[in-house]
Order: sequence, then C-alpha cells, then structure tokens
Amino acid sequence: MTADVSSLRTSPGKPVTHHGGFEALDEELDYLVPLSEVKGTIPDAVSGTFFRIGPGRNKIGGQEFGHWFDGDGMLHSVSFKDYGVVYRNRYVRTPKYLAETKANKIVMRSFGHNAPGGIRKNIGRLPANCANTNLVYHGGKLLALWEGGRPWQLDPATLDTIGEHDYDGKLGRFNAFSAHGKVNPRTGVYYNFGIRPSFRPRGALTGKGAIDLYKIAPSGHLVEKGSFEVDFLSFCHDFALTENYMVFFQSPIAMKSPVPWLAGLIPFDQAIAWQPELGMKVYVVRTADFQVEKVFTVDQPFVAIHFSNAWESGDGRIEVDLTRYEDFSVNEQLRNVLHSTGDTSAGRFMRYRLDLHSDTIEANEYKEALGGEFPQWDHRYTTQPTSVMYAACMMGDDSTFFDGVERIDLQTGKVKTHSLGEGRYTSEAMHVAPREEDDNQEGWLVSMVYDARDHSSEVVIFDARTLDEVAVVPLKNHVPFGFHCGYSPRSFLR
Ligand SMILES: [Fe+2]
Repeated sequence: MTADVSSLRTSPGKPVTHHGGFEALDEELDYLVPLSEVKGTIPDAVSGTFFRIGPGRNKIGGQEFGHWFDGDGMLHSVSFKDYGVVYRNRYVRTPKYLAETKANKIVMRSFGHNAPGGIRKNIGRLPANCANTNLVYHGGKLLALWEGGRPWQLDPATLDTIGEHDYDGKLGRFNAFSAHGKVNPRTGVYYNFGIRPSFRPRGALTGKGAIDLYKIAPSGHLVEKGSFEVDFLSFCHDFALTENYMVFFQSPIAMKSPVPWLAGLIPFDQAIAWQPELGMKVYVVRTADFQVEKVFTVDQPFVAIHFSNAWESGDGRIEVDLTRYEDFSVNEQLRNVLHSTGDTSAGRFMRYRLDLHSDTIEANEYKEALGGEFPQWDHRYTTQPTSVMYAACMMGDDSTFFDGVERIDLQTGKVKTHSLGEGRYTSEAMHVAPREEDDNQEGWLVSMVYDARDHSSEVVIFDARTLDEVAVVPLKNHVPFGFHCGYSPRSFLR
C-alpha cells in the first residue's frame, strides 16, 4: 500500500520542497475525472491519449535503489473524452518488478547498484531492464522503452503488460534498443539504435564501441538493421533525425575498464566516467543504407543528452537543437536525486550547425533560455524546419526542480516562460497540434504537474504560444516524477 503521505503535505511553517514527487505510487488505479472537476476548458484538439512513464517506485522494502534510473517503470495514461478524463496507471511487469515485489527487497543487479549476495550474484550479469525511460506508440504497439535492453509491450487501453518485444526475433538478447527512437512523420518509419561493445568476427572484443541501427516500418516490422563502429563504448542516450540522416553526438562518457563491472564488483554506473581526453565525435549516418556519411570532431567535448528537432537546410548543412552539459556531473545528481537539495542540473539549449561540405561545426546557444530539459517540438515537422522549441525549465537560482515551462523562438532566440508557482513541478510537456480549422493557433502542451503543497498531481494543458494554463485536471493520486511522455491523437479506451 502507499506510504502514509500525511507527512508529505505542507503544513504552516514547513518549507515546500519537491521531494514528495519521488515517493512511490504503489496502487494501480482507473478512474474518471468528470468535466465538472476540470478547471478551465480542455481544447477540442486535445482529444487523444497522453502517456507518461517513469519510476513508480525508487526503493523496495526500505532499500533505496542506487540510481533514479533503477526505478521500476510505471506507465500512466490520460484519455481525454467528451464526458471527462480517464486516468490509469500500471507497473510494467518486468522480471525485476515481479521478483522484487515478491521478495520485498532488492534482488537484481541494476544500473546503479549490485544485487545483494556479492560477486556470485553479479558476475557476468547485465543490469535488469526497468522499462522506465520512454514510450512509443508505433505500428499498432505501445512500447515501454529502456536503453540497455529490449522494449516491453503494453496494451494501450488497459496498460496491461503483454511482454518483452523482440520484433519477431530480430532484436537479439543482447541488442540494446534506446529510449529515444524517432518517427519520420512523412514516411511513418521509426528509427532507433542501441549501443554495444564492438566484436571481432570470432567474438573477441575490439576495445571499441558499436551502435546498432534499426529501421521499423509503419507496420511495426523491423525491416533493416545496420551498425557502425565508434572509438569507444560510450553512454549515448539520444540522437537527431533528419530526412536523410541519423546524427549521433558521441560524448566521452566511457567505460573505464569493463573488468570490475563484468566481474561483478561494481555496478555499471560506477564503471563509466567522464573522460574528455578521449575526445568527442559526431557521426552522420545515412538512413538509406545505414552507412556513415561524415564524421566531425568536436573541439571541446561536452555531454549531449536530449535532442530536439533537426533538419537539412538544403545547402549541405544539418541543423540540430540539443541540450548541453559541460561534463557528466549531472549523473551524480541523478544518482542522489531523492535527496537533492536544490542542485538539480539543467541543460543549456544549443543549436549545432554541421556543414557537410566544409566539415565544420558551428555552435550557438539560445542565451535567453532558462536552463532546462526535455526539449519538445511539433512532431508533425520532425526532420523539417521548426521555429519553436518547448521545454521544462528552472525558473530561478533557488529552483530545486523544474518549476516552469518555456517556449524558445528558434529564429529570434526570444524566450517566453511560465512559472508554475510555489510548490508546483513538472517534467516533459508534449505538443498537441491544433485542429485543421484552427491553423492560426500554435497548438497545446500537455504535461503532468506535481503539487508539493498537498502531495497531489494535475494534468495541465498550456496554450503553446502564450503558455497560459487553459485546463487543469486534478488527479486523485500523485504521479511520481518521471522521465518522458507521449501523445497519440487516438483514444484507446474500449
Ligand atoms: Fe531521455
């Protein structure tokens, strides 16, 4: 059952902090929020399904997991109907979730911690798949994504777990499948990737890394695989997609030595480190045949975690928007996020311009933008020029978590911000396109907001242009802080 949350509610004189947003949600719920309880008006265009995923719990049996990334994946769906809003949440039934729920303690080796029991319980074992990072609805399937293993399929109506998904056996047991694939809206093709060590033909390690590439047809079938070698095995979370290229920024977050990790001595999180001396490269890979077209060298290595939209500008240039960190200290904060005291990192929003003719890279910062994360855009224009980016942001130096949303005009650099107010925190916001007859509108943003003042959550719909809160849907439960979201114009309720 859910912990007693009364201590999390704010009382007079008690400071409002964001930490209640990391508390577990143990119950799995289904309920209707009638329109009479909705503050404001839900726009007609918002009539599909909003999904949110993230750790539903960050500890078990009183033991905290080693890293925020180790939390068990919970999917939330919010269905907008003409009679109200239907909320549902379910844990993904991974082997880790099932085993640790049954044992009521940590059982499995994960990204940020080893399994109890010493070397014998950890040697040669991969981190357990938490299915907690992102989601995609593609080819008629709803998938909960991690990045070290295969996706997990869920029923989009009930959120019941269907099982691990291997694309008809084409994703091998050791094939990673990243949490950040991207769909080209013109073709419906879904591109994704996974990192792995590079092997010689007879199976020996080369000491380098490799990135596997996947092309998944609109039907949901994996129709083409490829791979290319990179200088070292590195943490690579996301990529940029243009009409003809997949673009990978390989930050030097590399494995120090695989031996202590393979031997079961340390978890994966402690085996990787920021190593700027290794350098940083950008790989531009053709989507047509998965061959590397161009490799750029970055003068000053940095960490690129999330990418926004990207496109080819027609004169041999590729434009890429991303969030930049100067090093990997953000990982230390993610590891200790349950106890953070206001040092949550936020990325800087940048435009990179790759010139395929001159082999040069130009970088420009959106200097007016507040530090933030989870860049989003109008997905109808993925791979095509877009003029606006949206993100969760930190409103001030004393912000302890994402307490605002911002809209960045990519042409002028002008920024509009919206503060959520005291005690309210958010993460990713999904853009919802306006109806065709409302083409003068910019659309809407849908996000989940945690209110620390009463340990509750709301689904908030913002006007994408003004960032005004046009509708607030109060939920009966809090929604733990999570990672990513998705929106489908479809309704899946049966
Ligand atoms: Fe991510």
